[in-house]
Amino acid sequence: MNIQHKSTYHEVHARSLRDPEGFWGEAAREIDWIKPAEKIFDSAQGLYGRWFAGAVVNTCYNALDRHVAGGRADQLALIHDSPLTGRVTRFTYAELLAEVKTLAGVMTDFGVTKGDRVIIYMPMVPEAVVAMLACARIGAVHSVVFGGFAAKELATRIEDAAPKLIFSASCGIEPGRIVAYKPLLDEAIKLASVKPEACVILQRPQQTCDLTSGRDHDWADLREAATKANKSADCVQVAATDPLYILYTSGTTGRPKGVVRDNGGHLVALKWSMFHLYGIKPGEVWWCGSDIGWVVGHSYIVYGPLIHGATSIMYEGKPVGTPDAGAFWRVIAEHKAVALFTAPTAFRAIRKEDPDGKFIRQYDLSKFRTLFLAGERADPPTVEWAEAQLKVPVIDHWWQTETGWCIAGNPVGLGMLPVKHGSPTVPMPGYRVEVVDEASKPVSAGTMGSIVIKLPMPPACLPTLWRQDERCKEAYFSEFPGYYKTSDAGYMDEDGYVYVMGRTDDIINVAGHRLSTGGMEEILASHPDVAECAVLGIKDAIKGEVPCGFLVLKAGVARKPIEIEKEIVALVREKLGPVAAFKLAITVGRLPKTRSGKILRGTIKKIADGEPWSMPATIEDPKVLDEISDALKGRV
Ligand code: COA
Ligand code: AMP
Repeated sequence: MNIQHKSTYHEVHARSLRDPEGFWGEAAREIDWIKPAEKIFDSAQGLYGRWFAGAVVNTCYNALDRHVAGGRADQLALIHDSPLTGRVTRFTYAELLAEVKTLAGVMTDFGVTKGDRVIIYMPMVPEAVVAMLACARIGAVHSVVFGGFAAKELATRIEDAAPKLIFSASCGIEPGRIVAYKPLLDEAIKLASVKPEACVILQRPQQTCDLTSGRDHDWADLREAATKANKSADCVQVAATDPLYILYTSGTTGRPKGVVRDNGGHLVALKWSMFHLYGIKPGEVWWCGSDIGWVVGHSYIVYGPLIHGATSIMYEGKPVGTPDAGAFWRVIAEHKAVALFTAPTAFRAIRKEDPDGKFIRQYDLSKFRTLFLAGERADPPTVEWAEAQLKVPVIDHWWQTETGWCIAGNPVGLGMLPVKHGSPTVPMPGYRVEVVDEASKPVSAGTMGSIVIKLPMPPACLPTLWRQDERCKEAYFSEFPGYYKTSDAGYMDEDGYVYVMGRTDDIINVAGHRLSTGGMEEILASHPDVAECAVLGIKDAIKGEVPCGFLVLKAGVARKPIEIEKEIVALVREKLGPVAAFKLAITVGRLPKTRSGKILRGTIKKIADGEPWSMPATIEDPKVLDEISDALKGRV
């Protein structure tokens, strides 16, 4: 394909690599600094250098105060649309700032100061955004934990972050059921050896909870008292290199990986991306349909749109069933959103319910310009369907919790490049993306390999893992010296388009949610009747992938396998959470292994997915694969 086009992308990207300091120094002019950087990039600091070294800034100031002072006080900052409660709540920039100042005042009363950690374990309610921004205001480091995780996952994050304060709520609301958060919070605090000093609990009318005396405080009471007392907190000066937040991602064992995000680089990269990548102008309505518990939600429900002066929609609902497959179009039409950012799985769910797009035609989508997809591979049939139905560009883009923003995408604001289905398009500024073989040698165009990013990474990418510099080096910078290892495999074509085909580690993407099969195996192995197990991701028409567990029972276990399988399914839900969507456990006599004892996961996956497979030369006993095929019959 000839990619001669009016886009300025190639010049912009080339300049960002030729003169990174000039490029990001210019981008940084869009941010209000208390003190500008002494060095735009200081290669002597951190694991691979630090952006905006010496600068002093406040992220909340850039997201709220400056817009209120600059004429956006009465513009909507946040629209909370909740089909699950039947409510829409709107906050102007002035109103959101007032809420944030009050909560920041409350936090100060609890003794929370710069550098203290605060965990936010909340459903998709506006108070969660207020809590994030209040932390940013006083320099506290927030760590949001996704509501679909169970108590044990929350406990490991409490243990690692050692928060002074936890914000939570009485319940979350899922279609057809209320999720009580308080018992999960109590259990997590019981499990963790480190305890918070206090918890602030939002009582939701759908289901309230008892508060633990001496530890828990009622959010509304604190807010009311603080408002009456005119309590408020000013923006605290933080270094650009100070952490803004920690976001945990699945680690295989024990301690989770706490990805650290700094203040300065994050401000600059997110601000740059809002227009140049997403084509959004300040004042426009933007919708990111993720959850604040994921990186996509941090960057593009909360920080990106607010730093940019746009209006952000926060949605407490699903693409289908709340109440129907027209939910997304209703939200876009009602709030006049110009763009939507969601995961392909949401579109697969909508397509299944409304293959002819009848709901789409019931709404006025005239303001809607672009659909952005990320979180998992955007399969071409889904992209083609969305293009045909919506008649707007559908842009796949690739990123990770670690990078905080897009690695490869199609920059709408610079002039779009031609879309190639199956590719998230081209590297964004500051990213020198290469595909290499095991010896770190670049491979030729079209050849699969490990996708790596030449150091240094651009602003916003992780400087380190929370209090685990060595683990960070080991996990990301050691296998391919001089590069960041993405742990994604794929290839680039002659036009420099990137194709991301899958992970090289044990991570699977279930409905756009990143999960570790190793973590699930630990749970399976903890069952008293299980001798051996393997968990792998198998194809799912809606969620892309779902986990499937294979169990070998201990000798002498006389119970029915079906009973044990049910217990295993319940155990994963209890320990990891419903979001794992772990519904399939299959008992087998043996697991297929190589002669050196390695489980042949790739071959099992191919059999389960119904793909052609060949007998591995190193297999210990070929008959085991027939047994696996038999066990899978009627189950997948
Ligand atoms: N709190 C408690 N439970 C939650 C939860 C939360 N915040 N989020 C999800 N769950 C539960 C769900 O209720 C479901 O429970 P169930 O097993 O009892 O049905 C389970 O976790 C799996 O959730 P989910 O993966 O969301 O599946 P679903 O069947 O409810 O919905 C989709 C499927 C495709 C509609 C949904 O996954 C979706 O909207 N995905 C969008 C993708 C996305 O936001 N990705 C984030 C990265 S961009
Ligand atoms: P997370 O850290 O939750 O954002 O998940 C990151 C992982 O999701 C990546 O390493 C990829 O494996 C996958 N991913 C995200 N976006 C895409 C995309 N556009 N195409 C292919 N894979 C993607």
